[in-house]
Amino acid sequence: MRRMVAETRLHPAELILPAFVREGIGEPVPISAMPGVVQHTRDTLRKAAVEAREAGVAGIMLFGVPEDDKKDAAGTAGTDPDGILQVAIRDVKAEVGDELVIMSDLCLDEYTDHGHCGVLDSEGRVDNDATLERYAEMAQVQADAGVHVVGPSGMMDGQVGVIRDALDQTGHEDVSVLAYTAKYASAFYGPFREAVGSSLQGDRKTYQQDPANVRESLRELSLDLAEGADMVMVKPALPYLDILAKVAESVDVPVAAYQISGEYAMVEAAAANGWIDRDRAIMETLTGIKRAGANMILTYWATEVARQL
Ligand code: PBG
Repeated sequence: MRRMVAETRLHPAELILPAFVREGIGEPVPISAMPGVVQHTRDTLRKAAVEAREAGVAGIMLFGVPEDDKKDAAGTAGTDPDGILQVAIRDVKAEVGDELVIMSDLCLDEYTDHGHCGVLDSEGRVDNDATLERYAEMAQVQADAGVHVVGPSGMMDGQVGVIRDALDQTGHEDVSVLAYTAKYASAFYGPFREAVGSSLQGDRKTYQQDPANVRESLRELSLDLAEGADMVMVKPALPYLDILAKVAESVDVPVAAYQISGEYAMVEAAAANGWIDRDRAIMETLTGIKRAGANMILTYWATEVARQL
């Protein structure tokens, strides 16, 4: 009876697996703050993509981790056609073709030696417009590598429009933009710093949203839609379900939510201590995110959960 009258149902086809691939390693490297998640080698990434597809997962969101000595102030490795993310996109495409939606993080923080999502001006501040030029180049190389969807996550003003133009002008009209629309300056990104070997000192408060605010997220939303976003995202998920519900009510494009590294770590850590029932907690968080209005959920548990559904 409960099954019959349930108002919210999860389905593998709305799950997206975020995955990290690291350059120059022979074995996958465990991420200590995210038990069960690794930095993949090119080989194990291919396997993870196949497993996700076999479980019915809809898509994979790829993050590249370059070798330390390839990081520089401009994040050059992010636009190198042979940079780790571009190579990984080609690998996954060769492995699963169009059977998984292949998505890529479009941001400089994995590639800059200072760890910021953009390039800096002479005073060390993130230079919004100079960063947009870098994002346009990134969009092109990621699309050239065969990605289906780019995910600009740097929160620069005007990023969606610039990326849409760059894609259109380089013959990549079919590549979609999943805009990180309401992305909050959150403590819950902590474990992600380890996952991508980030060099960031400080924080991203000058370009990510203030957790106290709703209106600025709705403003970001209208700007992203006007600039051509095909899908929009709210991130993190659990502390921002109100934002997710508001966004979902007010748009006519698909809405994604990202259950981020710290949300994952929180459940895994409590479960490892025997303090909560891990499997129930995972399903409950995902159900809550879906109930709040997400059409798609990025979660590090995607493959595991898809197998159970
Ligand atoms: C930026 C980016 C971040 C995440 C996804 N893209 C980090 C940040 O903004 O600080 C976080 C994802 C997670 O924590 O799981 N490239």
